[in-house]
Amino acid sequence: MFVKTPLIFDESRSGSQGTPIPHSDVPGLELTDIIDNSLLRTEPAELPQVTEPEVVRHFVNLSVKNHHIDKDFYPLGSCTMKYNPKINDALAALPEFAGLHPLQSDNTVQGALQLMWELEQMLQKITGMDGVTLQPSAGAQGEFTGALVIRKYHDQTAGHRRHFILIPETAHGTNPASVVSAGFKPKVVKSNDRGKIDLEDLKAKADAETAGMMLTQPNTLGLFENDIEAIASIVHSAGGLMYMDGANLNALAGLTRPSDMGFDITHINLHKTFSTPHGGGGPGAGPIGVTKKLIPFLPIPVIHRTEDGKFIRDYNKPDSIGNVHSFFGNFGVLVRAWGYIRMLGESGVRHMTRSAIINANYLKAKLAPVYNIPFTEGTMHEFVISGTRQKERGVRVLDIAKALLDYGFHAPTIYFPINVSESMMIEPTETESRQTLDKFAEAMHEIDKIIDSDPERIHSAPVNTPVRRLDETRANRNPNLRWRP
Ligand SMILES: Cc1ncc(COP(=O)(O)O)c(C=O)c1O
Repeated sequence: MFVKTPLIFDESRSGSQGTPIPHSDVPGLELTDIIDNSLLRTEPAELPQVTEPEVVRHFVNLSVKNHHIDKDFYPLGSCTMKYNPKINDALAALPEFAGLHPLQSDNTVQGALQLMWELEQMLQKITGMDGVTLQPSAGAQGEFTGALVIRKYHDQTAGHRRHFILIPETAHGTNPASVVSAGFKPKVVKSNDRGKIDLEDLKAKADAETAGMMLTQPNTLGLFENDIEAIASIVHSAGGLMYMDGANLNALAGLTRPSDMGFDITHINLHKTFSTPHGGGGPGAGPIGVTKKLIPFLPIPVIHRTEDGKFIRDYNKPDSIGNVHSFFGNFGVLVRAWGYIRMLGESGVRHMTRSAIINANYLKAKLAPVYNIPFTEGTMHEFVISGTRQKERGVRVLDIAKALLDYGFHAPTIYFPINVSESMMIEPTETESRQTLDKFAEAMHEIDKIIDSDPERIHSAPVNTPVRRLDETRANRNPNLRWRP
């Protein structure tokens, strides 16, 4: 039976509290000594009054109602929900890291600066780029930072602004949003019938107004753009720069590098490829890597290693685009990614990528007899199925996604990419075992059978979750997130 969890405010009882902390008998500063009196509260904040076990139980109960990667399979295509090793959290929680303040002097934070410098070196090696900034806090912010770098490069080298960034029609929504935020207009490039960039359309659109192209590799159908050299050559010949949306670097790391394919800039979603927690637009980390000619434009501060092996923060970069985040972005996330890459080593990173590709291709082969898979050539770490055969029998891909919840799986991404009707985008990641993939495939086959025998069961799913179907549009447009007494 489902028991509704009350809000923690509703559990509040006046006078309840956790461990009482005795009053300090050491004379110290009064709040009014450090904060202007007019800014101080006159009434205490309306915080819930609960005991420690009540707080713990409240949040543990909520966490088991939610679906998360520690609970079961989470094949959310494009989002790379892979298991995050707990050792990463242990590293980031070390008091020597967690207790630092970003305004401490360089001398007192040598270890933290060294860690970030080393992470930059590792990312340079993996991407083949010459310079890296760790500052952006998400892939989308990396795109925005990269677009600002592109703008500054053209303004400075050509002395005039180029206005367009080419974007494939299959692009992730953040791509056009980022380039518009950076002051460009997106120009859409068509895909061909193989789901890849249409070279003729690209040739027609790349011109003297083209500042660059933002391209996801492998693309959002999970397919490797094997014409990448020709694509880069067309854009470069028009004077544009090539930006790789590196959200899918987990299909490339250790096997090939963005620089080898002709990219000038790439972002790296550390919270995907390098298994740091996924922050939903932050607090993640979306470092960008750039080729040599673009290094002067990277955000400040930049970390340098001096000849005597010390690490310093350098703010003196006159051509820099400035800051895109305070200090170095989300340091705790950087520690986790550093730990993951160090733990795997070079051969481990390669193995990670190969496993992600094998898992996706294995699952694709298991689903192919039942589900329509329109684009299959060159599948890398994820693939897109189309629920058209199921729709003909009265069940939409939304219903299939809901039915999967009853099997204890998070649903894959649905209705993206938009150039596949009834699309379901599945990314198993390398952290799943063959047994888990088999269990998921069995559930998908069973759902397909139930469509013929008992379609109502799929239409009314989920029945095993804490809440059933919600009015998602209303929840989105009119969220009710505020507690009032
Ligand atoms: C292809 C692609 N590009 C960009 C992004 C944006 O990354 P972030 O969520 O870190 O902002 C994503 C995120 O899912 C993505 O899949």
